[in-house]
Amino acid sequence: MRAIVQTAYGDPGVLELTEDRPDPEPGPGEVRIRVRAAGVNPTDWKHRAAPLFVDRLPLVLGWDVAGIVDQVGYGVTILEEGDEVFGMLPYPHGVGGYAEYVLAPARSMVRKPENIDFVQAAALPLASLTAWQALNDTAHVSVGQRVLIQGAAGGVGHLAVQIAARLGAKVIGTASEQDLEYVRELGATEALDYHTADIRALKDVDAALVPFTGDARLDSLSTLRRDGNFVTLARTEPGGPEERLAAERGVRYKTLLVQSDHAGMQVIADMARSGALRAKIHDALPLSQAAEAHRLGEAGQIDGKLVLVV
Ligand SMILES: NC(=O)c1ccc[n+]([C@@H]2O[C@H](COP(=O)([O-])OP(=O)(O)OC[C@H]3O[C@@H](n4cnc5c(N)ncnc54)[C@H](OP(=O)(O)O)[C@@H]3O)[C@@H](O)[C@H]2O)c1
Repeated sequence: MRAIVQTAYGDPGVLELTEDRPDPEPGPGEVRIRVRAAGVNPTDWKHRAAPLFVDRLPLVLGWDVAGIVDQVGYGVTILEEGDEVFGMLPYPHGVGGYAEYVLAPARSMVRKPENIDFVQAAALPLASLTAWQALNDTAHVSVGQRVLIQGAAGGVGHLAVQIAARLGAKVIGTASEQDLEYVRELGATEALDYHTADIRALKDVDAALVPFTGDARLDSLSTLRRDGNFVTLARTEPGGPEERLAAERGVRYKTLLVQSDHAGMQVIADMARSGALRAKIHDALPLSQAAEAHRLGEAGQIDGKLVLVV
């Protein structure tokens, strides 16, 4: 089969198209998916550049997939050959979506709504699951709460704004000036330019989702009410300034690493079906241009999600 394989860590040039990788065979509980589109996320280029959570070569990247089930392993009852599905492969070790075929635990996938195409479906899973697991499962966001979403026009953020709004929250989103109107259109009640606004002026925020480190994280922490929920997507130094500030202020501080999640994917599929959740697509490139997709993404030259068409 065709796949993008890397045999070394390094710059995007290590991503090479091969035509002769063996077709995988599904084991117990697995389905084989004929991949039609594979989403590209920042974690892909981080894993390409150096060992992160996964340290094995040769490596096929890609956690986000949308495609058609073409073989079903022993014991799988919820999917059948021919089903159009999408989902996130088990993060981090189940990676391998930049390929013609990939194996997935059946319950990492759900049926793709008919009203979204494979490109849209491949753009959604990892970033939407991150937002859902942060806002719903971790911060328990409920109707009427004030929720701060940093990076609200980004890959995770633009989906998080839609999800938080769907949960009935009043969303405060941060973005660059040119994206503020877009963030309001996504459902935010307030949009702040993160280059100029003093985030610390916000008070009594119930929950915050912050993908970044540094001042953005510390400043966001100071906006939360006592017993508020703070979710970070980046590593925190144990006992460092963030944990100290959270303890001082009585804020619940959690670091989230996204997980494969059947129930979460079902919610995402339902929201996509109803039109409440839609990924902004920057571009869909052929699989052979995976290296170019990484170059664009890594250089921050994208506005929305990048998807590889297989
Ligand atoms: N832990 C996990 O499970 C998990 C899951 C998903 C993602 N992540 C991580 O979360 C980060 C964001 O991912 P993504 O897909 O959303 O990336 P992305 O698509 O590159 O989006 C980042 C967005 O954040 C904005 N931004 C940058 N610095 C900011 C700041 N200081 N304050 C507010 N906004 C800021 C950028 O705006 P401008 O371009 O206008 O500057 C951009 O719109 C990445 O590091 C990724 O690896 C972690």
